[in-house]
Amino acid sequence: MKKPFGILIAAAALVAASFDANAQAPADIPADMNALMTKHTCIACHRPNQRLVGPAYADVAKKKYSDEKIVELIYKPEPSHWPGYPPMAPMTQVPKEDAMKLAHWINSLDGGAKTTTKKSSSTTKKTTKKS
Ligand code: HEC
Repeated sequence: MKKPFGILIAAAALVAASFDANAQAPADIPADMNALMTKHTCIACHRPNQRLVGPAYADVAKKKYSDEKIVELIYKPEPSHWPGYPPMAPMTQVPKEDAMKLAHWINSLDGGAKTTTKKSSSTTKKTTKKS
């Protein structure tokens, strides 16, 4: 009895390869951000849409920080912002340029699905009262 081992092995290799690809780049993380997240270890604690050790980035985006503020928080986290989470260690080794890219991406993750802030411009019409 001859079995097509060659084909089986090839198929197994293909399956293994596709699993590897998935492991390296989760579908919701773009390749360049995945590279930064991996390089600076953010990936160990953060995902775009899922709570891990740290909050989902989509939840961070909902806080409406500026990109600059997020960079600041990467260097100097404020655990009081996230009750119920362990404190994040300051990630001062991340180059500013990389931190900025990550910050910009994090902010882009607020899909706008449930934004309550843009309801109306109630606070904008404060015309000058002095006459
Ligand atoms: C060891 C786990 C861990 C790693 C690694 C980690 N974080 Fe965090 N991160 C957390 C936790 C826990 C919190 C929530 C508590 C806090 O802010 O201290 C958090 C909070 C944050 C926040 C929200 C800050 C705020 O005040 O709202 C941002 C932004 C963030 N992380 C970005 C990053 C980036 C970018 C990296 C990689 C350079 C990174 N984190 C690496 C665990 C981690």
